[in-house]
Amino acid sequence: MWSPDSWRGREACQQPRWPDAEELKSSESALAAQPPLVFAGEARRLTAELADVAAGRAFLLQAGDCAESFHVTGADAIRDKLKVILQMAVALTYASGVPVVKVGRIAGQFAKPRSREIETVGDVSLEAFRGHIVNDEPFTPAARRPDAARMLTAYHQSASTLNLLRAFTKGGFADLSRVHAWNQEFVEDSAMGQRYAIIADEIERAMAFMRACGIDLSKEASLHEVDFYVSHEALILNYEEALTRQDSLTGDWYDCSAHMLWIGNRTRQLDGAHVEFLRGVQNPLGMKVGVDLAPHETAALCERLNPDNTPGRITLISRMGRDVITDLLPGHIEELRRRGINVVWTCDPMHGNTFTTNGDVKTRRFDDIIAEVRSFFAVHRDLGTWAGGVHLELTGDDVTECLGGGRALSESDLALNYTTMCDPRLNASQSLDLAFQIAELLGDRYGA
Ligand code: PEP
Ligand code: CO
Repeated sequence: MWSPDSWRGREACQQPRWPDAEELKSSESALAAQPPLVFAGEARRLTAELADVAAGRAFLLQAGDCAESFHVTGADAIRDKLKVILQMAVALTYASGVPVVKVGRIAGQFAKPRSREIETVGDVSLEAFRGHIVNDEPFTPAARRPDAARMLTAYHQSASTLNLLRAFTKGGFADLSRVHAWNQEFVEDSAMGQRYAIIADEIERAMAFMRACGIDLSKEASLHEVDFYVSHEALILNYEEALTRQDSLTGDWYDCSAHMLWIGNRTRQLDGAHVEFLRGVQNPLGMKVGVDLAPHETAALCERLNPDNTPGRITLISRMGRDVITDLLPGHIEELRRRGINVVWTCDPMHGNTFTTNGDVKTRRFDDIIAEVRSFFAVHRDLGTWAGGVHLELTGDDVTECLGGGRALSESDLALNYTTMCDPRLNASQSLDLAFQIAELLGDRYGA
């Protein structure tokens, strides 16, 4: 029997050791008394769109920060992230003819799993930094103390982020007539920015042509608005449970903290608390598939999370690394196919290609990222399955966190503007560069 708190009877990895049970309880009740952030009907619509991806009729672009920060709250960062995702979607759709489902890692992506749960400096050991929903970065006992009240701050920041995203995507900013305005100044004069501007010109010409033919474009909502969904890793289960509500229409349970939730690579134990919690909520789910998962385990997890085999319910996010994906991914695809299991396959080319340089600076090579994506497409082409999407860490800012790309960032450039709170992100022009390359792969595959 599932209930929103049945996960409590299972082992939950990667949870903070909350120091004060009363404090935790009072945050949980305060959260439970808040309105939902998303609606069940929206989550159902996303499942339906992902079913189209599963059937090879659409492509999923899921992207955003590795971790959002409580210190970055203004409109600009949200707008710029949305701009780059809209630009990528235009590049992908225009070049390939495939509709793009847009899902942000945003409005709730505050929790991080850690490879070491305790950090030790000299003879001091403290709780690792687990993301702003739990604690803070400075290596002091006060900052690292898990503070349950932070879950409320995370909720409120998610609410204001989502509010702005809804305004931007439904209130004119995402109107296709503004397609040029999404090109940011620092991208505009790069090769990628120019390539984008050519597409934007062509889109404008096409719209002028339709208008001249007497078509009333103002009536076409899809030209003026976009559907933009939000997602995060469902890691801190106290938070997720408190935002889980029963839909009055269907009686089903939804985790109303985001449209889509995913299970990270470190918390996908078949009998663990995360799988137990997520199997009972009807949101579309993601699950990371790393190198240490065997194909029969992937299949067992899909069956546990989606016993009815509903298309669009499960998105598997392979994150294997450029050198091993070709060896490891086919086994998973074939095992699922053998059992008739329905999933969306996407590629996270970020987390299997991270390394440290300049002492302990985490980075990724653009070339490794694109190489993993290419192999992902090649594997699916060979097996006759649909390479359904990509899962990326990026930002709209002009950061210097990943190496290579259009401006050939080198290791000595990393210090120029390295601001990520966790993993290195693609900047806006690297993101656009990647989108154009994926568009070509997608166009080949789709026959455009
Ligand atoms: C992430 O997506 O930021 C992450 C931690 O990934 P993974 O669980 O695949 O390591
Ligand atoms: Co990350």
